[in-house]
Amino acid sequence: MKTIVILISGRGSNMRAIVEANLPVHIAAVISNQAEAGGLSYAQSKGIATAVIDHRGYASRGTFDAALMQTIDAFNPDLVVLAGFMRIFTEGFVNHYQGRLLNIHPSLLPAFPGLATHEQALKAGVKIHGCTVHFVTAQVDHGPIVAQAAVPVKADDTPASLAARVLAQEHQIYPQAIRWFAEDRLTLTPDGHVNVKDWETLNES
Ligand code: GRF
Repeated sequence: MKTIVILISGRGSNMRAIVEANLPVHIAAVISNQAEAGGLSYAQSKGIATAVIDHRGYASRGTFDAALMQTIDAFNPDLVVLAGFMRIFTEGFVNHYQGRLLNIHPSLLPAFPGLATHEQALKAGVKIHGCTVHFVTAQVDHGPIVAQAAVPVKADDTPASLAARVLAQEHQIYPQAIRWFAEDRLTLTPDGHVNVKDWETLNES
């Protein structure tokens, strides 16, 4: 069984969805850069080890990333899962976890990288919005796409109402993507795309 470590900064609803999905993985730890992250108490209530590495205690991005890496690697994870972890990594960190670092982003990448994605979507007037699970590369919010889900944008949507509709989909596709990883169904193609074994069969209706 593969071991995963989940990184959070806040409420941790994606982390919770992953825990509740009862995936065939060992969740070794939940690590936060914020001591007050709401998700930590949930993880503790489930008997999952937790750790806090507060970025404010480090002089540079590099020293913080090194400390975080050391904490993560003590758990020997096969996969590191970013679930609302609000820090930008150094290239050294990203390279260290190449092919075993997943992120979820609340837009249909490559549209709307960065912050305030729901505001960006409403401003652009798109009729479909959504979320993306992708492997992390040095370029923020880029990287090979593993899974996506789309939702309609309604005429009376606010950023909050749109965010809630997208979040419900995040809670579906993130556990699914981790399950695929756990089942060794993800491979990188030479052109840097993700091939999901038997994906076509899964999606035939
Ligand atoms: C999610 O919308 C995720 O896509 C983004 O940050 C938010 C985290 O929410 N990266 P939660 O902490 O998982 O509830």
